[in-house]
Formats: sequence, structure tokens, C-alpha cells
Amino acid sequence: MISFLKFVKLKKIKMFTRKKYSLKSHNTFGLDVIADQFIEINSNEQLNDLNSFKNFNFENLLILGSGSNLLFLEDYKGVVLKLSFKGIVIDEENNDFVIVKAYAGEEWDNLAHFAAKKNYGGIENLSMIPGTVGAAPIQNIGAYGQELKDVFVSCKAIDLKNFSTRIFQKEECQFGYRNSIFKKEFKNRYLITWVKLKLSKNPVPNVRYGSIEEELRLLNKKKYSISDVRDVVCYIRTEKLPDYQLIGNAGSFFKNPEIPESDFEILQSEYKEIPFYKNENNLVKIPAGWLIEKSGWKGRRDGDVGTHSSQALIIVNYGGATGQEIYDFALKIKEDIKTKFNIILEEEVNVISSPN
Ligand code: EPU
Repeated sequence: MISFLKFVKLKKIKMFTRKKYSLKSHNTFGLDVIADQFIEINSNEQLNDLNSFKNFNFENLLILGSGSNLLFLEDYKGVVLKLSFKGIVIDEENNDFVIVKAYAGEEWDNLAHFAAKKNYGGIENLSMIPGTVGAAPIQNIGAYGQELKDVFVSCKAIDLKNFSTRIFQKEECQFGYRNSIFKKEFKNRYLITWVKLKLSKNPVPNVRYGSIEEELRLLNKKKYSISDVRDVVCYIRTEKLPDYQLIGNAGSFFKNPEIPESDFEILQSEYKEIPFYKNENNLVKIPAGWLIEKSGWKGRRDGDVGTHSSQALIIVNYGGATGQEIYDFALKIKEDIKTKFNIILEEEVNVISSPN
């Protein structure tokens, strides 16, 4: 006979599994797509229990954080695995820095909020980025002159091929602009379970980004705390970016393209006002939002799809659009930018077709 305590324990480690499950509340575009199978892991114990899931066809696996960077084109005929276990702990500390360990299912912004409250510097400019901690290294999240890679130490991940675990040090993650090894050769192979970040206890805020500097100046202070910077970033994002809870979106739809300097000079001779950032590798980054606005797409709406009226790089779902309609709209923008500027925009969101 099974004891009561054992029963409670067994109940506790039971994970949430469903067949034919709607992902509407699990993607920020709000698309009502159906997953063949949905598994939600809520604790570390449940994660260790993954071994007993060897029968699942993980070939057709999609790992989901909070679905803030995904566009589903159709129902997903495979397994969707959502990581929801949370937690933030200080792993190591001295007078200069802390190593913070955060579990994959923690909301990224809870971590940014935690750091700001303690005045730990390094991720304040990344405040209010939607998504989970586990998803952050995958696309090396970045905003207002900060990137995750600047503070990333390591992450732990489970290899879904053989259920072994591996610690990835920063160098092994091959971080680039909105890119990492988890988006390339290890796409959908590793399940990130925690991330460690090194945050400064004597922070010098990075306020070079124009609008942050302007807003901070209004505070009229000699020195800015990490909380001040976070508040300003939250204010700017709230003013400028649509809230996915009110209007479906996945942040920037495209990456900012990087083009050779020689091509840029030709472009600049025609458009004197073109904004740009020079990279070390002789490439010039141009804001895709500018290209899209310049092509007349800002605030444009076609049925239930459109570009946001104050940030053309964000494609929004006014409610009833399908993933395919959103994608078709994005492809029209892409085509137009190619014709007008001879620049090929690359999607920043992950476009998900169903496995067959
Ligand atoms: N711009 C326009 N029209 C627009 C939008 C932008 O002309 O409609 C021009 C302006 O010159 C503006 C410049 O583009 O100064 C840059 O715009 P913004 O500061 O909004 O940043 P972004 O380059 O469009 C990137 C990230 C954002 C991040 C911001 C702030 C990418 C793909 N996007 O956007 O990240 O919040 O910088 O650092 O790199 C995301 O990844 O989902 C995201 C929102």
C-alpha cells in the first residue's frame, strides 16, 4: 500500500501534460494554435523525472519559455515542452560582485527587478524584456546598449538526445547579435535549466543610449542608481512598445541588418539622415525600423495585422490574425525593403512550422 506521504510526493512531482492543447495563452502573438502534446514542468524534481519521458518523440520537440519570440504558422504536430520552474539565488558573492543563479522558468523581468532592488548592475537596461530566463541566452537578449553576454557566466542544460547534463561556459555559447549556439547547431537539442550571471555591486550604469540619457537627466541627480536606470527603461518601453497583453506581438520582428561599409556609403549618399551604428568588423548596422518606416509601412494595417504606430519594427496582431497572415504581411515588408534598399531583412522571431 502506498503511504500518504509518498502519495503527496508523487502527486507533487506529477507534471502537467495534455493532448491537443491550445497554445493561445502561451504565445505573445495570442495565436490559437493546437499542440499535439503539451508538457509543463514546474519543478526541478519534475525535470529530473524527464528520464521517464523517453517514450516521447523529442525529434518533434519545441521548447517553450513564455512564447514571446515565436510565430506559429499552424497547429504544432509534436511535443511542446514548457519550463515553468522558477527561483533566484545568490550563488557566490564578494565585495565587488554577485553570481546570481536563476532557474529557467523565472520571468526575465523578475530577475531584472530583483537586481535593481539590490542595486546589482548589469541587466538594468534589459528591464521589461518579455520572456523567461531560460530563453534569454538563446537569442542573447539585448537592449539599450546592454546584452546578456556581457554578464553571462554559464548555464546548465539537459541534452535531450541522451538526458545527460552539461554546463556551458560563456565561450561555448557562441554569443552574437541575437544569436547563440542554441539557435544554431544545438537548436531544440538542449533544455536550459538555469543560468548564472555576474552582476556588479559597484555598478556604473550604461546610459549612453540617447533616450535613456535624456530621461535620466530629468531626474536631476549627480549619480544614478540601478533602480533609476530600470525605471527610465521601463518608462521608455511602456511609452513606445505595445503591451502584448493588450495587443499581440513578439517585439522586434526583424533583426537590424548589417551591411558592408561600401554599400552603406551608397545608401547614405541618397538618404543623408539614415541612422546607423558602425561595428568592429567593417559592417554597418541600420535600424530595420527606419527602413520599414521609410518604405511607408509604419502604422499600416491589413485586416488584423499591422506594424505598430510608434515602432515600425514591431508587427502586431489586432486580435483575429492567423500566424500565416502575420507571416505573409512580414514577407510583403521584406520584399519591399529588398526592392527599395537591396537589403534582405532576417526574422528575429522564430517562425515555427509544424513538423510533418
Ligand atoms: N526607427 C525609425 N522608425 C521606427 C523605429 C525605429 O526610424 O519606427 C529608427 C530611429 O532612428 C531609432 C532607431 O531606429 O532611433 C532605433 O530604434 P529603437 O531604439 O526603437 O531600437 P531598434 O533598433 O528598433 C533594438 C532592439 C530592441 C531593443 C531596442 C532598444 C533589435 C532587433 N531590436 O530595436 O529589442 O529594445 O533596440 O535597445 O535589435 C527585441 O529584440 O524584441 C527588441 C524589442
